[in-house]
Amino acid sequence: MYELAYSSKTPTNLTQVDLSAIQNISGETNLILGITGCLFFHEGDFVGILEGNEKTVKKLFAKIRGDHRHDQIAVLAKGPIEKRQFSQWNMMSCTKGERTPDNAYYNLSVWNILSLSELTEKNTHGSQIFWSTVEESLQGINFRTR
Ligand SMILES: Cc1cc2nc3c(=O)[nH]c(=O)nc-3n(C[C@H](O)[C@H](O)[C@H](O)COP(=O)(O)O)c2cc1C
Repeated sequence: MYELAYSSKTPTNLTQVDLSAIQNISGETNLILGITGCLFFHEGDFVGILEGNEKTVKKLFAKIRGDHRHDQIAVLAKGPIEKRQFSQWNMMSCTKGERTPDNAYYNLSVWNILSLSELTEKNTHGSQIFWSTVEESLQGINFRTR
């Protein structure tokens, strides 16, 4: 079993339609490939983690790397793991609406993801760095890789 965590940014504003397209194709393909993990999107930042067979993960990441919908791609962690930290592949995002103090939907989404991060077991280097980078994005802190 192998894990790879990465971060990237969107050169242009992605719409909800673009995000849904990525979510749909990834959900289908990763299930077939036996890939689990998570893709987080927030205000132009992507943070992703992929887990599965080493060759399959590397091949899929090579394809993701070449996708024009993002750039500034940085590998945060990669290497062998004993067991998966994610039971399926999923997407997390809280981009609906504006980040304003009184946008309840937005604030609840941020709170939900931060709570999830706090409650989630992180037994691998990749999952630790994935969640800490997600938290940095939600708190408006620049990724250390930039
Ligand atoms: C940030 C980001 C993450 C992506 N993650 C995945 C993924 O986990 N699995 C996947 O199949 N495609 C993912 N994609 C989409 C792929 O880059 C690619 O467009 C898609 O797999 C279709 O490839 P195909 O045209 O060769 O079938 C991602 C794209 C972006 C921008």
